[in-house]
Amino acid sequence: MSKAKPIMDYMRIPTKKTGDFCQVHTDIELITDVYNRAKPFCPKCAAENIEKEKTSFDRRITRETITRYMYRYSLLDNPLEWNSSFDDFKAEKGTKEFEVKQKARLLAGAYLKNTDKTGQKRKRFNTIFFGNPGTGKTHLAMSMLKGVNDYAEPPKRCLFINVNTLMDHIFSSFNNPTEMWTKEYSIKLIGDADLVVLDDLGTESSMTDKGQASEFVQKLLYRISNRSTELIITTNLSQQQFKRTYNSKIISRLFANTKNSIIDFSGITDKRY
Ligand SMILES: Nc1ncnc2c1ncn2[C@@H]1O[C@H](COP(=O)(O)OP(=O)(O)OP(=O)(O)O)[C@@H](O)[C@H]1O
Ligand SMILES: [Mg+2]
Ligand SMILES: [Zn+2]
Repeated sequence: MSKAKPIMDYMRIPTKKTGDFCQVHTDIELITDVYNRAKPFCPKCAAENIEKEKTSFDRRITRETITRYMYRYSLLDNPLEWNSSFDDFKAEKGTKEFEVKQKARLLAGAYLKNTDKTGQKRKRFNTIFFGNPGTGKTHLAMSMLKGVNDYAEPPKRCLFINVNTLMDHIFSSFNNPTEMWTKEYSIKLIGDADLVVLDDLGTESSMTDKGQASEFVQKLLYRISNRSTELIITTNLSQQQFKRTYNSKIISRLFANTKNSIIDFSGITDKRY
């Protein structure tokens, strides 16, 4: 028996009623074509199937568009950082590496969804990785972001922003009209994303344009901390230095709901050497 064809195919073919009724839509009579070649079908079921196909198509397109967003708009220090994943983060059981990797995986899992175990909308939260150079902060932040980009349901707009690279672009925009990353554009793009890694935050306070960089970063942090954007921050500053570097209003917003998402990488050896 051939499957009932989509309703649209039948619009052009004369149909007749069969006297049988749909088991789902019990008030709808099954129809067939006048030549009795088609298996009797319910026009309402057929229309619903088309609608379902359309919705799943739209969903797939939306997901694809959002997934590409991260690759299109992120600003990395080094494109090789795209390769970082949980799978290649070495961590023997019982080590500090193992502990931070586990936590990072759990937090990525929490970002995947917008609801908690009880089905309630979960609270927005940021993650902050404190630690010395070479300890795997960027590696794990990237692994989390890629996981969320690939698997969040509904899909999320993710961005990876290296703060120093961002500042270089913004400074270049002052006298280069082709530079896309102006101050306003940066704030808009970052504020419109759902999950953003701000990699190496705090280093701007030692840049040559220290005054301007710090002022811009304060403004950026303030603006995005008032949006629904969630942040994964990596920094070489200690918690105390971090809190001294930024305005208390910003600190209070950045640290809201971070009881389980502040991760200290101290005790881990530098993997660059
Ligand atoms: N546990 C690990 N397993 C495998 N590779 C690692 C591990 N930790 C770090 N690396 C690698 O070492 C290099 C440095 O790590 P990463 O860039 O994540 O350090 P970081 O903490 O962000 O340093 P910085 O503070 O200087 O930015 C990267 O190439 C990273 O992939
Ligand atoms: Mg780093
Ligand atoms: Zn039906």
